Amino acid sequence: MYLHRLVYYSENKIRELGLPLAKELKAIVASGLKNNPAAGVTGVLGFNEQYFVGVIEGDRRRLSSLLVRIARDKRTANLTILAAGTIDERKFDEWTSFYAGHSEIIDRLYLRYGLTQGLDPGRMSADSLSGLLADFAKLDNGQQARPPAPAASAGEPSEVIKVTPVFGNQSLDGRKPLETIAR
Ligand SMILES: Cc1cc2nc3c(=O)[nH]c(=O)nc-3n(C[C@H](O)[C@H](O)[C@H](O)COP(=O)(O)O)c2cc1C
Repeated sequence: MYLHRLVYYSENKIRELGLPLAKELKAIVASGLKNNPAAGVTGVLGFNEQYFVGVIEGDRRRLSSLLVRIARDKRTANLTILAAGTIDERKFDEWTSFYAGHSEIIDRLYLRYGLTQGLDPGRMSADSLSGLLADFAKLDNGQQARPPAPAASAGEPSEVIKVTPVFGNQSLDGRKPLETIAR
């Protein structure tokens, strides 16, 4: 296997398309959790209302076909590759995802990478974006940011999304769910 790493970001178009944000984000995370372990793809996907940011590692042909799939996905646009190349070893040992919102800890991480206004991948180098993603991956679930919960319109139940990570056939039981997205 030719081990590669790819660092990218793209715009989140879910709301512009008039699609339900939490439901579509949940579907994207579910696709990654289903497909990536089987394809030997590790890394992190971060997202908020505006952006997706990602690092993916694995076999270069698998990464290329995944990237083509993402580029064709209508829920995102302007996919920008910050870095792509051969690596000697992985930085991530599973594929995880997180909401790139705000909390005391997360704002401190943004500051570490020179972001004073929150996530702004257009102003980041490949190294700082992959550093931020690696730091995010190290956070406990309890330290992760929660997206702001917009007031649910009358009669519409608020939705909580929980995704439990799975790597290969090995369920990571006992670990807290990585994502809890409330809307
Ligand atoms: C920014 C972004 C990142 C994505 N990352 C992944 C990923 O890492 N793995 C994956 O299988 N699908 C990912 N997807 C979803 C794919 O575009 C596609 O919908 C999915 O792979 C379809 O597979 P499925 O039909 O098996 O769910 C991503 C989508 C977006 C918008």
